[in-house]
Amino acid sequence: MRYIGSKKLLLGDIERVIDEKVKDAETFCDIFSGTVCVGEYFKKRYKITTNDLLYFSYCIQHAVIENNTIPKFEKLGYNPVEYFNSLSEKELNNLPPKKRFCVNNFSPCGNRMYLTEKNALKIDFIRNKIEGWRDKYLINEGEYYYLLAVLIEAIPFVSNISGTYGAYNKFWDKRSLKDLILKDIDIFDNGKENHAFNENGNELIKKISGDILYIDPPYNKRQYSSNYHLLETVAKYDNPTLRGVTGLRENETKSDYCKKNTVLKSFEDLIQNAQFKHIILSYSTEGIMAVNDIETVLRKYGTDYKLYEIDYRRFKSRETSSEHKLKELIFYVRKDV
Ligand SMILES: C[S@@+](CC[C@H](N)C(=O)[O-])C[C@H]1O[C@@H](n2cnc3c(N)ncnc32)[C@H](O)[C@@H]1O
Repeated sequence: MRYIGSKKLLLGDIERVIDEKVKDAETFCDIFSGTVCVGEYFKKRYKITTNDLLYFSYCIQHAVIENNTIPKFEKLGYNPVEYFNSLSEKELNNLPPKKRFCVNNFSPCGNRMYLTEKNALKIDFIRNKIEGWRDKYLINEGEYYYLLAVLIEAIPFVSNISGTYGAYNKFWDKRSLKDLILKDIDIFDNGKENHAFNENGNELIKKISGDILYIDPPYNKRQYSSNYHLLETVAKYDNPTLRGVTGLRENETKSDYCKKNTVLKSFEDLIQNAQFKHIILSYSTEGIMAVNDIETVLRKYGTDYKLYEIDYRRFKSRETSSEHKLKELIFYVRKDV
């Protein structure tokens, strides 16, 4: 999934820091996990803990981190992904109007153009089915979150947006006119009990401990809850009150890491409370926390401080241009715990 600040292109760089600095470790915590690509990548090496403030991220975490195999859907008795992909228009149209939250709010029927009416109806049908199966105990927790993750991963491919859900396009993008297709997700079995959380990282940090803590907080003022609100609403499917032209959810938790006056205090609190031997932080030269301030906090609580700068030419970003050279940073510090 395209995601602001995704570390998909930096996995090798993070691994090189680990190989240089960490000799023996068994556990890895990705405390701001977003798309979960970091936790997923290191699942082959460690027992994993993941966490994010956003519930849609938690659904993906549960599917690919807590699950160690693709669920079998034995109680259901058939393959739900194949079933969803073969739904006829007639079946979809049987869905009662009051169960069509996405149609009524994210398609032209609700005066928004995030999704075509056809794709919005399919999402509503799938979302209602998944909930119904869970209520009737036809699917277990692992199966429930697996199906939610499969649905969430498919939606961006047919969304009429340019990058995020901060706004929809005024005209239909070609890909948004394609049919929504669900695809199975690969799941790696590391034979360990891995855990997913949906909490404020600053609260979770007081309850966990381990070897490697990977921290990838937001680095600017763009709140993730606003930029991915549609995925959050599909994941929660809680009939929220939406506001404004863009359909933002009301009363969403805002991250302190996106606010200049709270970010440093929250960051220091996180580092101070971390019961982990190795701390690895991803940040950007464009971030709202200054590099000097980050260094001061890390040195205050740890030793063996090192800063790695990732060559901007290798990190292809839309923001990167010849005048405006964004650098990705990876900080390392060891903590005596
Ligand atoms: C830079 S993104 C992480 C990207 C992720 N590493 C990836 O590759 O997809 C930052 C994430 O932090 C989450 N976040 C923001 N504030 C948080 C908090 N206080 N506790 C937990 N997660 C938070 C956001 O929802 C977002 O998913």
